[in-house]
Amino acid sequence: MADELENIETAIEASQKAVVSREKEIGEDAEQPRGPVGLDIGTSHIIMAQNKGRQIHTVKQLNAFFTIPYSQFTKKILKENEVRFFEKNDQFYILGYSAQNFANMFNTNTRRTMERGLLSAKEDEGITVLQALINTLITKAKRNGEVLCFSMPGEPLGGTKSVVYHESIIKMYLSGLGYRPISINEGLATVMSELAGDNFTGIGVSMGGGMCNVCLSYLSVPVITYSIQKGGDFIDSMVGTSVGEPATKIKTIKEEALDLSVAPRNRIETALHIYYDDLLQNLLQSLSEVLHSSEKIPKISQPIPIVLSGGTVMPAGFKQRFERTLANVDLPIDISAVRIASDPLNTTAKGAMVMALSEEI
Ligand SMILES: Nc1ncnc2c1ncn2[C@@H]1O[C@H](COP(=O)(O)OP(=O)(O)OP(=O)(O)O)[C@@H](O)[C@H]1O
Ligand SMILES: [Mg+2]
Repeated sequence: MADELENIETAIEASQKAVVSREKEIGEDAEQPRGPVGLDIGTSHIIMAQNKGRQIHTVKQLNAFFTIPYSQFTKKILKENEVRFFEKNDQFYILGYSAQNFANMFNTNTRRTMERGLLSAKEDEGITVLQALINTLITKAKRNGEVLCFSMPGEPLGGTKSVVYHESIIKMYLSGLGYRPISINEGLATVMSELAGDNFTGIGVSMGGGMCNVCLSYLSVPVITYSIQKGGDFIDSMVGTSVGEPATKIKTIKEEALDLSVAPRNRIETALHIYYDDLLQNLLQSLSEVLHSSEKIPKISQPIPIVLSGGTVMPAGFKQRFERTLANVDLPIDISAVRIASDPLNTTAKGAMVMALSEEI
């Protein structure tokens, strides 16, 4: 019991530490983590977090791949250049950031193992590739049964239960590596990372590439969780279709130049504003409906915060847009404040790691 309390203290302390993040370098070996691990398996990125001294360290890999035809010659060159790949069916599967470089050379897109937050049904080798990508970040556990918390999306509204399949596949693989895998809802991970000062009570929303994950947490207990299968990718493709440009080009413009606090200056920005508003309207309308139809809402006397994480919350002026939409939605709970997570791209991995620390035996 004493140990358990100590673990929880360690976890709460860790949630207040700053994050040092970096991308996995091409050719760099996977780490053998010391101590509990947090893993964010997202549609766009896979991020591994560890508690190291005064900081949280995260390493990020692109959740993408690219295939090229087999040849002895290419194999040699790939190896010499430390490109991560595996061979199957007379093809080389190039992994992660290296895949991005190849796709750029061929002026096309990388392929993805996941779509809208879950394992892609379109890719036959999706699971094998996802495992290989996880393998670029972590090796087998140093200690058998090391705790590893990984993020799981909430059941999509009007769900198909495909979350169960996704979770089982990932659990099986991580167990095989010697870890004790524990899943954490992505919205709850946001709460665990950001709401220590509010006794882990509030609404955590992770707005990523493939989906938006929502969790209403009361004292760290996920009371309500769900997801909608729309996120940054949805914005890119809808804007792309509307203005007749490829989604990848829209994505670059969105990430580099979008400012939601000023009036749009051209057609693409206008479309980006429109689809950001559309996504927020969808998200907050769904929150209103879910909360109104739920019998589980705790009778909280005080207003609670909403905390937002994920890459989609990054543009300047996002918070004000969110607040503006929120003001027009009827919620059965009072909201005290809207906050943006301290490091939106690393929040899920950090939250998963905080959970892993508290679960350590
Ligand atoms: N600076 C930025 N401005 C706007 N959007 C951004 C920015 N940086 C990243 N994004 C968008 O954030 C999304 C990726 O976010 P994130 O890495 O949180 O997703 P994920 O966790 O991989 O996906 P999911 O949780 O949906 O499975 C992409 O749509 C990307 O275009
Ligand atoms: Mg995510």
